Amino acid sequence: MAFVRVCDIEELWVGEMCGFDVQGQPVLIVHYADQRLAAYDGRCPHQHARLADGEFVGGHIICAAHRWEFDAATGQGVNPRSCRLRPHTVRVNDGAVEVELETAAMHSGVGA
Ligand code: FES
Repeated sequence: MAFVRVCDIEELWVGEMCGFDVQGQPVLIVHYADQRLAAYDGRCPHQHARLADGEFVGGHIICAAHRWEFDAATGQGVNPRSCRLRPHTVRVNDGAVEVELETAAMHSGVGA
């Protein structure tokens, strides 16, 4: 599976998250710290609400539907702890944020 360009890194500032349609799949990209990005399946593991409609606060992704929280860096559930977001590989290549859908790596630094 090849990497697919989703946006320019300048479009996703530190502290922001955004949802994208990548080859027909919803993907959430979060720029959770300086030079650190993570990509996850864009649907909440609870009842499949769009995670992009939620909030990114204090390092946590918060689903808008029922307030489940996830660690933005790892995808691990915070409340409840028994859940986890499904990760995709993300990288920055020549200023573009790119995602690879079929791999399981969790996150990547800019330029990795
Ligand atoms: S759908 Fe996300 S918390 Fe219920």
